[in-house]
Amino acid sequence: MTQDESRTGTGREAREAAAERAAIAVRPDEFHHSEAGSGAREKVFELKGIDVRYSGVAAVKGISMDIHRKDVTALIGPSGCGKSTLLRCLNRMNDLIPNAEVQGELLYHGEDLYGPTVDPVQVRKLIGMVFQKPNPFPKSIYDNVAFGPRILGRKDDLDATVEHALRGAALWEEVKDRLEDNAFGLSGGQQQRLCIARCIAVEPDVILMDEPCSALDPISTGKIEDLMIALKDEFSIVIVTHNMQQAARVSDRTAFLMVELDADEQNRWGRLVEYDDTEKIFTNPADQRTEDYVSGKVG
Ligand SMILES: Nc1ncnc2c1ncn2[C@@H]1O[C@H](COP(=O)(O)OP(=O)(O)OP(=O)(O)O)[C@@H](O)[C@H]1O
Ligand SMILES: [Mg+2]
Repeated sequence: MTQDESRTGTGREAREAAAERAAIAVRPDEFHHSEAGSGAREKVFELKGIDVRYSGVAAVKGISMDIHRKDVTALIGPSGCGKSTLLRCLNRMNDLIPNAEVQGELLYHGEDLYGPTVDPVQVRKLIGMVFQKPNPFPKSIYDNVAFGPRILGRKDDLDATVEHALRGAALWEEVKDRLEDNAFGLSGGQQQRLCIARCIAVEPDVILMDEPCSALDPISTGKIEDLMIALKDEFSIVIVTHNMQQAARVSDRTAFLMVELDADEQNRWGRLVEYDDTEKIFTNPADQRTEDYVSGKVG
């Protein structure tokens, strides 16, 4: 990372920016998978009893769920229940947090994502991430999108790649005449779509989004939501959101997590309460706690 690329601010922002750069550093050959097969829904991820601890203290326990290909899967639940922690397991971003420890089995296209031969840098290229706060690089709009393809040595047709990614992120019409302008001159909603364009320019398999709209106005939010629905034709998407309407609007499946306390209320950790089709979670959930949460009674 060069000095001018480093984002000032919190350690977390710096970590996220570093992860994003690391994510597009290598073109992997691993994990290539076939197109959706016969009948059964193809699983992108299979989580089997995932526990995450920070400095030995559990943050989530016993998470088991399958995430399907070309679905939008939403993770919802109150603050601190472990949504971001769980999302970071899916592209091994917890590896970058020194005190974090992931246990349990996590398969990605049937292979152990945490296996000894798996390169986390390659993983993070295939499984891209969009963060809560848009984090464009201090470069031109064009160079932001071209950054990943250039690192991967894909210099042919770079203009076409950039245009394709910007169109895919529903930003092309707004920026086509100012591609050489600095990305910081874009609005927050445009910057977030630029970050999505940067992510899709390297043709990932999965896009993880951690509250991608929480800093955006309703119009920009609507654009990103439309975008998510359009992108799932090509990518599998996992999104963390506090916005119930958003989860209901964009996702196919919804996982509801909650904080659980031990008997003497000294320790707390996140648990998966219910995971089902989004329509079921929002209209007829099996668990009373889900009902209370999605109807706004608690949270
Ligand atoms: N780097 C870290 N070091 C120590 N503890 C952490 C770290 N990151 C998260 N935690 C703890 O893990 C638990 C789950 O946090 P996490 O950020 O995953 O929750 P969340 O559901 O995403 O919350 P929010 O909705 O507020 O973003 C919390 O108790 C949090 O304090
Ligand atoms: Mg979070």
